[in-house]
Amino acid sequence: MDFDELLEAARAARAYAYAPYSKFAVGAALQDEQGRIHAGCNVENAAYPQGLCAEAVALGHLVLAGGQRITAVAVVGAGPRLVTPCGGCRQKLREFGGDDVPVVVGDMTSLRGRFTLGELLPASFGPEHLV
Ligand code: THU
Repeated sequence: MDFDELLEAARAARAYAYAPYSKFAVGAALQDEQGRIHAGCNVENAAYPQGLCAEAVALGHLVLAGGQRITAVAVVGAGPRLVTPCGGCRQKLREFGGDDVPVVVGDMTSLRGRFTLGELLPASFGPEHLV
């Protein structure tokens, strides 16, 4: 997996972040099972809970393009701490990817952390539970 390409897509998406309330711009990029990349930025809302995370927006793009699985994730943000996916987004990603999916976290210049989805969301509930 070319994490540089995925991180670059997340950085490009982050430039479109609509974050007038938090001022915290985030970009995300997902690779699908066909090797395609789908990106998103956070989209906030004056009714604060209605805001969308960057990962959720990227996931919508993946699904709309016919993607069926997530094979790698990149999230990009600025600040001293790693911008790991929020709890809700971990579960959203889990719907389309298993424990072994790599999740890389970076800033505008570098890759700063690498996890797996299983590390971020251990003992998760997923679609397999419902069959
Ligand atoms: N945010 C994301 O887009 N993704 C994450 O993984 C963490 C948080 C956004 C939500 C909100 O617009 C802003 O960052 C501050 O929480």
